Amino acid sequence: MADLASIRTPYYRYDLDLLKETVDFASAEANRYGYTIHYAIKANHDPVIAGIIRDRGLGADCVSGNEVQRSLELGFPAQGIVFAGVGKTDEEISLALEKDIFCLNCESVEELQVIDEIAARSGKIARIALRVNPSVEAGTHRNITTGLDENKFGISMPHLKSALNICSTSENLDFTGLHFHIGSQISSLEPYRNLCERVNAIWHEYDIEGYGGYVLNLGGGYGIDYNNPEGNPVPDFRSFFSLFSENLRLPVGTEVHFELGRSLVGQCGRIVTKVLYTKQGIGRKFVITDAGMTELMRPSLYQAVHAIKNISSSGEPETYDVVGPVCESTDVFARDTELPVTKRGDMLEILSCGAYAESMTLNFNLREKAGKVYISGNTVINGKQYHEDDETALISGNGHGYLHKV
Ligand code: LLP
Repeated sequence: MADLASIRTPYYRYDLDLLKETVDFASAEANRYGYTIHYAIKANHDPVIAGIIRDRGLGADCVSGNEVQRSLELGFPAQGIVFAGVGKTDEEISLALEKDIFCLNCESVEELQVIDEIAARSGKIARIALRVNPSVEAGTHRNITTGLDENKFGISMPHLKSALNICSTSENLDFTGLHFHIGSQISSLEPYRNLCERVNAIWHEYDIEGYGGYVLNLGGGYGIDYNNPEGNPVPDFRSFFSLFSENLRLPVGTEVHFELGRSLVGQCGRIVTKVLYTKQGIGRKFVITDAGMTELMRPSLYQAVHAIKNISSSGEPETYDVVGPVCESTDVFARDTELPVTKRGDMLEILSCGAYAESMTLNFNLREKAGKVYISGNTVINGKQYHEDDETALISGNGHGYLHKV
């Protein structure tokens, strides 16, 4: 059996069984109401992870031409792909039209005019959803709120009418409906209840059905439990989807779509990192790991807190600052956190790193890209099937270690 200790750290460790359980639960709960889920591939575009999600019939939510391209390459059907983003380039718009994706989630009147022109020029009809900025507070960190007036996202309410008029008069635009996304890591259902009320009001006041609107895309944002990931590994999708079914008042036949990222993949990933030094500072002790903000930016960008475990020690608890090696003072995973007494060579796990960790890596300081390991009872990696007794399960190359079943 390949030896976990021989894999170069840091690496991402993905639990594919937990991923499958999570996606299956989300799908089953969404199916109760006939809702459609698109996977927000920005959360993690790893091909094995995205492949598992694709196999379960979800669509893809993209925010760049490369994400559209990647989703297509991974086998997501074009008809299940939606494409949002405030700054789509002409090339990205052309790609979306050429590939005939389900729709472009358009974020401004100005963008709508450009899509109209490009569609006319290329003899295509562009399917459009208008992304509305609904001024709904998401109750999350300011840096990951998207549905307020101060945010760059979506068409603000005073401009919705003119956007609808452009859609209805243009021969090159096919209006499908409205799109909303109010923020990320939303841990209470209250903001979604408020969103439903706003959507109900907008749908009726603007007669969205009268414009041919039949799709309501409510975006994503459902949070995960960063405080207790092992106690609560699968989000409560039952409460989530039932809230919408109870609160939406839409014409019969309206399709309801979601774009979930973090809630599907967040808990299936961890970063495994080695302690390089424990250093005594003034009034504090630092644990210095070989992973840094280059592998997980969330703490330095949003003061995010990820649970950390020392899997090598069961000593008495001590208080540490856990920091990375990167040349930035914000390269800190946790301040004043308790770990069992920790020493050089110990292995730590940083939990809840399945979403917005690997997909946001930096190569600042010319750091190498971390490797990854997939854990599952029955795994295929890079097209090769691995068995529990497979001696060659560890492959090394480009600094990546792949290991099946430890
Ligand atoms: N749809 C749209 C239009 C989005 O902008 C996003 C996320 C999603 C769906 C998926 O949201 P989720 O279900 O994953 O919350 N890097 C930040 C999160 C940024 C989210 C950006 N947009 C973090 O690490 O917390």
